Amino acid sequence: MPKTKKKKLKNKKSASKFIGIFCIFIFLIIVGLHFYKDYQYKQTNEYKLLEKGYTKEEVAMLLTKNSDQTITAILNQDKNDLIIELVKEKYYLEKNLDTYLSFQKVQDDETLTDIVAMVNTHANNKWYQLSLKTDSSKKEEMIVNKFYALDENYTPENLKNISLDYSYGEEGENKLISYAYDAFIDLWQAANDAGFYLMVTSSYRNYQEQKEIYEYRKETLGERKADETAARPGNSEHQTGLVIDMTSKTEPSDKEFKESSAYNWLKQHAYEFGFIERYPEGKTYITGYEPESWHWRYVGQNAAKIMHDENITYDEYYAYYIEK
Ligand code: DAL
Ligand code: ZN
Repeated sequence: MPKTKKKKLKNKKSASKFIGIFCIFIFLIIVGLHFYKDYQYKQTNEYKLLEKGYTKEEVAMLLTKNSDQTITAILNQDKNDLIIELVKEKYYLEKNLDTYLSFQKVQDDETLTDIVAMVNTHANNKWYQLSLKTDSSKKEEMIVNKFYALDENYTPENLKNISLDYSYGEEGENKLISYAYDAFIDLWQAANDAGFYLMVTSSYRNYQEQKEIYEYRKETLGERKADETAARPGNSEHQTGLVIDMTSKTEPSDKEFKESSAYNWLKQHAYEFGFIERYPEGKTYITGYEPESWHWRYVGQNAAKIMHDENITYDEYYAYYIEK
C-alpha cells in the first residue's frame, strides 16, 4: 500500500475513534443529567407527597395552601384524608391546622366548615376563656367579642350626638363615631325612602355603663342568661362607638321589629351603607350571643359587602381577612 493511502486510513481511523469517544461522552452527560434531574425531583415536596399516596390534585392544593414547614409536618405522618378535607375548606388557615385536627377529634359530630369557623374565631374555647386585646387602631375594622376586649379607658374619638329625629332618649344620650354617623344618615334616608322610619334605641356606651347593664342582668337572670344577651364590660361593641341598636317607629318592640319589613329591608340593604347585623340567627356558636335583630355594627362598605355576599359573621370575617 502506498504511504499516503496508509496515512489517510490511519487519520480516518483516529477520526472515527474521536467521534466515538465524543458520542459516548455526550451520551454519558445526557444520562447523568437525566439521573441528576430525577434525583432533584425526588427531593421535592411534590414527589414526596405523591409517594405518600396523595393524588396530583391533592398535592397541588396542599402546596398552594401551605408553607414548606407545614408540608414537612404533613409528610412526617401517614396520609390523612382529613387534612385534605380541611385544606379544601374556603376559610382554611394554615396556622390553625393542628388545632382543627385536635378539635375535630373531640367534636366529631360537627361539620368541618363549623370546625374551621370555630377554631378561626377562637370559639373552640369556652367563652371568655381567652383574653385578647382589641386592636383599636383598626378603627371600623376592630373586633370586640367574648375573646377580644377594649381597655377600660378606651373612648372613641369624634363621637357625634345622634339627632332626636332618629333616636329615643334625651339630647346627647346617643352617640356614634362621626364617620359611622354619616353612614347611618345615608342608611336612614334610604330606609325612609323605602317607607321605613328607623329609630336608635342605644349606641355608644362607656365601660362603666356596660358594667352596670351586665351586672344588673347577672343579678336578675344569673350569669349564664346574662352572658347570652349582654357583653361583659370591655367586651361590648357598644364601647367602640360603631354600633347602633335600632328599631322601627311603627314596630318598636323587639318582637314586632324582628318580624317587620323594616328589619327585612335592613337585612337586604344595610351592607350597602357599611352596616352589618352583628348577631344573626343560627350563628350563636360563633358570636356567643342569641340573635339580636336590633344590633347593627358599622364596619365599612367593603367589609360589609364581603360578609353579606359570603354570609359570614364579623368574627369569621376578621379571622380570615384581617387577623389571618
Ligand atoms: N347586647 C350586646 C351583645 C352587648 O351588650 O354589647
Ligand atoms: Zn347592641
